[in-house]
Amino acid sequence: MKLLFLGDLVGRAGRTAAIELLPNLVEDHQLDFVVVNGENAASGFGITETILQDVLDAGADVVTTGNHVWDQRDTLVYIERQDRLLRPVNFPKGTPGRGAHLFTARNGAQVMVANVMGRVYMDALDDPFAAIDRVVDDCPLGQVADAIIVDMHAEATSEKQAMGHFLDGRVSLVVGTHTHVPTADHQILSGGTAYMSDAGMCGDYDSVLGMDKEEPVNRFQRKIPGGRFTPALGDATVCGVAVETDDRTGLATAIAPVRIGGRLEPVLPSFWLAD
Ligand SMILES: [Fe+2]
Ligand SMILES: [Fe+2]
Repeated sequence: MKLLFLGDLVGRAGRTAAIELLPNLVEDHQLDFVVVNGENAASGFGITETILQDVLDAGADVVTTGNHVWDQRDTLVYIERQDRLLRPVNFPKGTPGRGAHLFTARNGAQVMVANVMGRVYMDALDDPFAAIDRVVDDCPLGQVADAIIVDMHAEATSEKQAMGHFLDGRVSLVVGTHTHVPTADHQILSGGTAYMSDAGMCGDYDSVLGMDKEEPVNRFQRKIPGGRFTPALGDATVCGVAVETDDRTGLATAIAPVRIGGRLEPVLPSFWLAD
C-alpha cells in the first residue's frame, strides 16, 4: 500500500497549501491512504468542523490531533459525529470522540489509525504505551489490519523513539507530530516498522513553529505577553512522510520524507518518482 502522512497543519497558510496539493498527490502517486494532523488548522488552535470537512474533501482519509484538539470548543460536540477525526487515545475514560479506528482505504484494504500523546513535558494523560498496546493487540497487523498508522504526538524525541521501538514489528508506521520541525531520522526499524521522529508541520517556516515570529521572540525575552500568537501567513511548506507497505505483512518496505513548497528544500520520495 502507498501511505502518506502530513504533519500538523498550522493556520490558513498550512491548511490551504495542503488542501490545494492533496488531490494531485493522491491522483499522481496513486496513494491508498492519507492521514493529516490537523490540531493547529484553525488559526493555530484546534480545528473547526468546516476545516475538517475541507481537509477530508481534499483527500485525507483521517485527521489526527493532539494537545490542541479541544481549542475550538465545538470539537467536543462535533467529534462524536465525525468518525474520521481522532483525538489522542490516552485521554481519560469518558472523553468525547475516539483515539483509534479501523478504516477502509481506497483500494479496499483495512487501515487502523491510532493517535496517542506523550507525557514528557506535556499534560499528564494516561500511559500512552499501555493505551496503544491495547489498541494494537485488538487489531493485529497482517490479520485484522492491512496497515496500521500511529501518530505519536509528543514533545520529547526520546519518548517518540521509545514508542517506535515499543511498536516495532506490530505496526506499519510510527510518526511523531507536535514539534513542527521535520527530522532526518526516517528509517525502517529492525522489526519492519517505518519510523520518523517528527513529520514536520504544514506551515510557514519563516516563523516560530508556524506562528508569526515577533510575539514568540518577545516572550522569550520579556516573559510578559505583548500580544497573541497568530499563525505566520507566508508560503507554507507541506511536510510529511510517505511509506510503502507489504500487502501481506503490513510492514514497511520503504519510507521517505515529503517536503513541497515554501522555504524548505523540496524532496519527494524516489519510489514515487519511479511510478
Ligand atoms: Fe501542533
Ligand atoms: Fe501539539
